[in-house]
Amino acid sequence: SGDSEDSSISEEEKKAIADMAAKEAKPFSIADTMVTLATRAGFGDYQVNAAMGLAKSLGMNPRECASMIVEKIRPKIEDFMEEPEIAGPGFINLRFKPEYLTSVVEYMASDPAGRLGLPKVSKPQKIIIDYSSPNIAKEMHVGHLRSTIIGDTLSNLLSFSGHDVVRLNHVGDWGTQFGMLVEHLRDEYPAALSLETSQDVDLGDLVELYKAAKKRFDVDDEFKARAREGVVNLQAGNDEEIAAWQALCAASRVEYQKIYDMLGIKGLQERGESFYNPYLKDVVEDLESKGLAVESEGATAVFLEGYTNRDGTPLPMLVRKSDGGFNYATTDLAAIRQRVEMTSEDGGERANRVLYVTDAGQAQHFDMVFSAAKMAGYVPEGSSLEHVPFGLVQGEDGKKFATRSGDTVRLKDLLNEAVRIAGDDLRARTENENVPDDVIDQVARIIGIGAVKYADLSMNRESNYRFSYERMLSLNGNTAPYMLYSYARICGIIRKASGQEVVANIKWPEASKITITDESEMELIRSIVRLPDILTEVEQDLYPNRLCDFLFETSQKFNKFYESCSVNKAESPEVKSSRLTLCTATAGTIRLVMNLLGIEVVEKM
Ligand code: ARG
Repeated sequence: SGDSEDSSISEEEKKAIADMAAKEAKPFSIADTMVTLATRAGFGDYQVNAAMGLAKSLGMNPRECASMIVEKIRPKIEDFMEEPEIAGPGFINLRFKPEYLTSVVEYMASDPAGRLGLPKVSKPQKIIIDYSSPNIAKEMHVGHLRSTIIGDTLSNLLSFSGHDVVRLNHVGDWGTQFGMLVEHLRDEYPAALSLETSQDVDLGDLVELYKAAKKRFDVDDEFKARAREGVVNLQAGNDEEIAAWQALCAASRVEYQKIYDMLGIKGLQERGESFYNPYLKDVVEDLESKGLAVESEGATAVFLEGYTNRDGTPLPMLVRKSDGGFNYATTDLAAIRQRVEMTSEDGGERANRVLYVTDAGQAQHFDMVFSAAKMAGYVPEGSSLEHVPFGLVQGEDGKKFATRSGDTVRLKDLLNEAVRIAGDDLRARTENENVPDDVIDQVARIIGIGAVKYADLSMNRESNYRFSYERMLSLNGNTAPYMLYSYARICGIIRKASGQEVVANIKWPEASKITITDESEMELIRSIVRLPDILTEVEQDLYPNRLCDFLFETSQKFNKFYESCSVNKAESPEVKSSRLTLCTATAGTIRLVMNLLGIEVVEKM
């Protein structure tokens, strides 16, 4: 019916096209644009939406085109998928066979404390993740906290997938502000200016020190002139200035390391802006020789098409100041060369992907730096530069995040407060259980720090995020405590089933055959088996909230299952071990994803 022969396309051509479409339809990879996760449960597990577009460009009937694609797909998928279904104008809906899905979950449950049998990528990439990146002698703020939390999760995930991940802390340890700091130290802490003694000097509160230096710089012209000279001497590598600079870096490092320790951040290498100092001059000269950088009001700048100030005048990207100093953009251009252009023989990284995790306010900076780098030929084929922007951290009222008195919140205080609230809550809930103090403290730390991380990661990173202890520490909703509690509860069920005491490491039951007796079991399974696709999706699009959404949905499905199906009082031993296997796979999934989010789990809470 309605199958009009199209004279412009031969049968052979049609076959070739259908072949092509079928080749794209790999049901286990959403890396492929032709196959997308089904948008609604009723549409099956996967959709192929290619038929409509294809039919249009070929002047064919779309449903006819869809059935040709189905003919090609069927032999490849019939072992694990139901007969494909053509719906509406030519959507192809694919649905896994239940016995295939149960076998996947059995497989996952056989490695609950490991990687759940998930494969690593076949083509590992070298991926640099530039994150955290506080500035020396300045306070590490909530923006750096977000960068640290998001960057750490992306690093964990990409490295779990099997990529070669390099975690870089692009610390702000270079630039003109060091002139005034060094000169202030010369007057206040002279011992800091000697390479022999500088490491023993206690600089006290660096934020106060910075303020004092800045104040002098702003009001005292003679000091200002000295500061200018100080920068030049530092960049020239003079002993005194280098010693003072090292003292400042060391003191800052101690401060931000405390935050990393509280957050459990590991593997982050410090490679600050100063690392790229030797390459800066070359970058500017290279841009000049290529005609990309030009003189502008005494400074040197790159003008890129499409970037203008509010008044419509061209917006320059400065690469050299009029006093000869270099800019933030110059360092980033030099870093790009070292990260993607230079070979390992020249000390380069040759990364395939470089991710920059910073606040959205730096989007234009990265846009301009990336396009200049491409125009200058610094970005080889097969390398991509990606800005991973995030929104602001706001107070509960949506205003600037600050203490009651309006001061900026110190990260140490912020994290300690979350742990304190978690601890108070835990003590109240376990009052009659005689839990030792050190256990309470340890669990409170996991819950408190986990809550801060999870609250941040569960939001779409591009939105502004309202910081609320109450919401993030709630036992209900898409929160770390809820997820940790779900995990602990499953551990409880398993301990009960096997008569285990609460000790350090739970013994997981052997995975056994899954027997479906209730629809809620199948729903839980359909949720769990999405894990590999979710991981692939986050690997590409870099939105960690997808992981949290997945976790939340899976734990809700678990709760539904647990409400309708008794595990320890199951109707038969087979059904009991089947349900224990579901419990094990769910727990393993929660643990794995929480760990990727940088959050430990606890077996009792
Ligand atoms: N230190 C900078 C800041 O505090 C962030 C650096 C980000 N990385 C980069 N390659 N520019 O805003």
